[in-house]
Amino acid sequence: MSADRLLVALDVESGARALQLADALKGVADGLKVGSRLFTLEGPPLVKALVARGARVFLDLKFHDIPNTVAQAVDAAVQTGAWMIDVHASGGSAMMQAAAKAARDAAARTGRTPPLMIAITVLTSMDDAALRETGVERALLPQVVALARAAQAAGLDGVVSSPHEIASIREACGAGFTIVTPGIRGAAAGAEKNDQMRTMGPAEAIRAGASYLVVGRPIIAAPDPRVAAQRIVEELTTSR
Ligand code: C5P
Repeated sequence: MSADRLLVALDVESGARALQLADALKGVADGLKVGSRLFTLEGPPLVKALVARGARVFLDLKFHDIPNTVAQAVDAAVQTGAWMIDVHASGGSAMMQAAAKAARDAAARTGRTPPLMIAITVLTSMDDAALRETGVERALLPQVVALARAAQAAGLDGVVSSPHEIASIREACGAGFTIVTPGIRGAAAGAEKNDQMRTMGPAEAIRAGASYLVVGRPIIAAPDPRVAAQRIVEELTTSR
């Protein structure tokens, strides 16, 4: 269903505002992303409250540490009821394998459906020069594709990708791989780009091969977030 493909980034300053938005969006957009700011402010009780309201929560904490620590963090994330969890692919294959195993084990132990385990490849704030600074000589796109393949080989379900990397990742990793795409602007997502440099419209990104779209400010900063989300869902529904 088109509405299931939309994930709203709850980049807000308080749990109260997050719950208000969740209620306003209920039935239109029930996929919600909680990032490190909101989680650091409000913690697991907020994630549990969103899950209790029927939301699918993408807990976007981008874990990156030694395998044992990441496994423990993923186990803790599963206990919040998160539906999607992410780790940095640059943490390496052993770390990603530990994350995937911890997700399966924690889900089995607590009687839950295993979460979707997603990898961050290269942060979209980085360019070739920034990548070189970290010791990576390869250009950005081949590095993104190499890390996506490594994530898949380690047993993760997908990656976060900028709109313009979708086609290459889809080609490399196949139809069953999950691609989560922020940087959605234009068409029903509005003309205001904020700080997003390389954007794509909602329907265009789905056509390019995205599985899920992450949309923040075009919805949460709109005068009526529910109407803004509805417009995007309509665009996705009518353009298929
Ligand atoms: O407000 P906006 O639609 O730009 O929000 C996009 C969301 O996706 C934010 O939470 C941002 O941190 C996140 N994100 C991103 N680019 C990435 C990864 C995540 O914009 N490469």
